[in-house]
Amino acid sequence: MKTVLYPGSFDPVTNGHLDVAHRAARIFDRLIIGVAANSEKNPLFSFEERIRLLREVCKDMPNTEIVSFSGLLINAVNEFDVSAVIRGIRAVSDFEYEFQMALMNRELNERCETLFMMPSPEYSYVSSRLIKEIARCGGDISPFVPPTVASAIVRKCGKSPGK
Ligand code: PNS
Repeated sequence: MKTVLYPGSFDPVTNGHLDVAHRAARIFDRLIIGVAANSEKNPLFSFEERIRLLREVCKDMPNTEIVSFSGLLINAVNEFDVSAVIRGIRAVSDFEYEFQMALMNRELNERCETLFMMPSPEYSYVSSRLIKEIARCGGDISPFVPPTVASAIVRKCGKSPGK
């Protein structure tokens, strides 16, 4: 039974994250999506809210579970006994940081293998950071996140998306 861990901040989860999660869940027996507890200094969504949103949007994925982890990713790799870590690469610009992190993680724990997966090109420009910026300025974020997440963002940002 091959289990993989897809870690991230998920502040908030986007359609791009979900695209990668669906692809990983099709390849592996079990997918664990790990929400990092302290990854963002000023998150829009609390840790509990990020987990709740992920659970909601992944509820139809039978071999997927949402967990939290704090501290180092390499410890979560041991704790959840996963075969590999999944990271999404949207563009070449993502690669340098991801490559460095993957090698550092493997240096810290030789069991920590990282697999890079590419989302569909339509998500290559979608990021949680841009979505938050667009929402804060009253823009329409509905094409980039699931409807539950779009509503939650609008509630947080106090504006309805300007269509
Ligand atoms: O969604 P993100 O913000 O790109 O996810 C980054 C994340 C949470 C996967 C990364 O920051 C992480 O692994 N944090 C846990 C702390 C850690 O292990 N840091 C050392 C990485 S070499």
